[in-house]
Amino acid sequence: MTAHHENPVEARRQAIQEEIDARRSGAERNRFGQFATPNSLAVEIARYVATLLDRKCDRIRFADPSIGSGSFFSAALNVFGRERIASAVGIELDPVFCDAARDLWADAGLDLVCGDFTTIVASPSRPRAPNLILANPPYVRHHHLKREYKERLQALTYHMTGIEVSGLAGLYVYFLLLATAWMEEGGFAAWLIPSEFMDVNYGAALKRLLTERVTLVRVHRFDAEDVQFSDALVSSVVLVFHKAPPPREHTVEFTFGSMLVQPHAREAVTLDRLRDSRKWTVYPEHARNDRRRSTNREGPTLGDLFRIQRGIATGSNKFFVLERADAARRGLPKKFLRPILPSPRHLQATVVDADEDGYPLIHPQLCVIDCELPEHVVEAKYPALWAYLQTAEALGIKDGYLVGKRVPWYKQEQRLPPPFLCTYMGRGAEEKQPFRFIWNRSAAIGTNLYLMLYPQGSLATKLRLQPECGAAIHELLRCVTGHELRGEGRVYGGGLNKIEPSELGRISAASFVERWPKLKSAVQRQVELFG
Ligand SMILES: C[S@@+](CC[C@H](N)C(=O)[O-])C[C@H]1O[C@@H](n2cnc3c(N)ncnc32)[C@H](O)[C@@H]1O
Repeated sequence: MTAHHENPVEARRQAIQEEIDARRSGAERNRFGQFATPNSLAVEIARYVATLLDRKCDRIRFADPSIGSGSFFSAALNVFGRERIASAVGIELDPVFCDAARDLWADAGLDLVCGDFTTIVASPSRPRAPNLILANPPYVRHHHLKREYKERLQALTYHMTGIEVSGLAGLYVYFLLLATAWMEEGGFAAWLIPSEFMDVNYGAALKRLLTERVTLVRVHRFDAEDVQFSDALVSSVVLVFHKAPPPREHTVEFTFGSMLVQPHAREAVTLDRLRDSRKWTVYPEHARNDRRRSTNREGPTLGDLFRIQRGIATGSNKFFVLERADAARRGLPKKFLRPILPSPRHLQATVVDADEDGYPLIHPQLCVIDCELPEHVVEAKYPALWAYLQTAEALGIKDGYLVGKRVPWYKQEQRLPPPFLCTYMGRGAEEKQPFRFIWNRSAAIGTNLYLMLYPQGSLATKLRLQPECGAAIHELLRCVTGHELRGEGRVYGGGLNKIEPSELGRISAASFVERWPKLKSAVQRQVELFG
């Protein structure tokens, strides 16, 4: 049963929320982090918190630091009842939402403060400390935060919590830290935030708060396969904690699934284990978890056997990448053209063979313009290339960030053709690999939609002496499980996975050593030398 059946104001809130959303563009909503919590989810979260709160707190002082139209306050009224809520405050930067929330909820006892929460929380006249916070803070990414603003947030957070926050952290990280500093000792909080912090370096500040300062009770991550929520929520997590130092033997309940009440999987994780875990999305370990850890942390990894690099960023594939036939028609000199693979979407084959010129045997064949000669030389000696390069101006190619920095602006990063490639992003659940491995027997390189894998050390020697073992290497790469790949990579809204070179490099290469035991000593020597 959803809340609005019980509360007529909730039905009005939903109508107003929809109406305000419709007036804003997606880009605007992104910049201010404006994605409302579905009320059914807000109620589910409030119900869960109620089970923890019961005996401990009979007079609730509610706060939502970025209240929007008040989905969480509505849920609190629904679950706790008006009588139990001694006071309630909502803060909101956007005057349109602030007015809407005031109209809707002032009669139910909600005080609205219009302004920036990060300023209000620092002011001596800030509202009295709450003992219950339910929040879905703005997700604004760090590059949308002005430099001075970010520096103020970092200084303020350090002042109020003693925790340093990375410059790469989004606004929600500061919200959570500052609001927790404000909250009364012993209070409870539930936060709906992006799960990204669980896996990336900038999440360290939050992880510190969650393992050292408060007692983290529950971490629920939504199943990306679940369609219950909109894209903005699929990579979200609900954190529930109690503001008190954690007991020594404390364990945190990690759950995964579509609903808080009936998760597909759960696991109790001790704080010690959590402090040692680089990635938190590996919990709970369970078949339905798409981010299980790779099997063997100690053994050899793909990074020991391959040098892994992103493909080239041309700055404009539309301009620099042409069909080979088109380049020939235009009379572009062959020596300034290199074969290049099409984007993964257009590459069906997983084994790419070559024609006598080294071009992939696929249709159409593509090439990338790559020339080191300065402009006056090209102009004097290669009129056809010069004529083509002149068309860049009108297309605005030279104003691009990458192209603008390059000298000459049409010179590409220099890469050798990689024997193996891995697509950089993709989808896939369960055993299905989200990324594709390609065995490249051509002279083509890849764009940055691929990672390029160059065998190194004794694996490189092996491939040089016995080129046919490329097939076996390719087969072993294709046997890396989808779980391992997702476990090392990262997942974005809508279930899109991406993997960076260093992440692919951490995947276990135990199967390679099983197949060719001699690789083991070579890998160990490298670890000793460079590890
Ligand atoms: C993700 S929405 C969530 C709204 C509401 N809590 C809910 O759950 O539906 C975040 C809200 O934060 C507001 N906001 C953005 N920056 C803010 C700031 N610095 N201080 C207070 N509110 C802010 C946005 O206008 C938006 O209404």
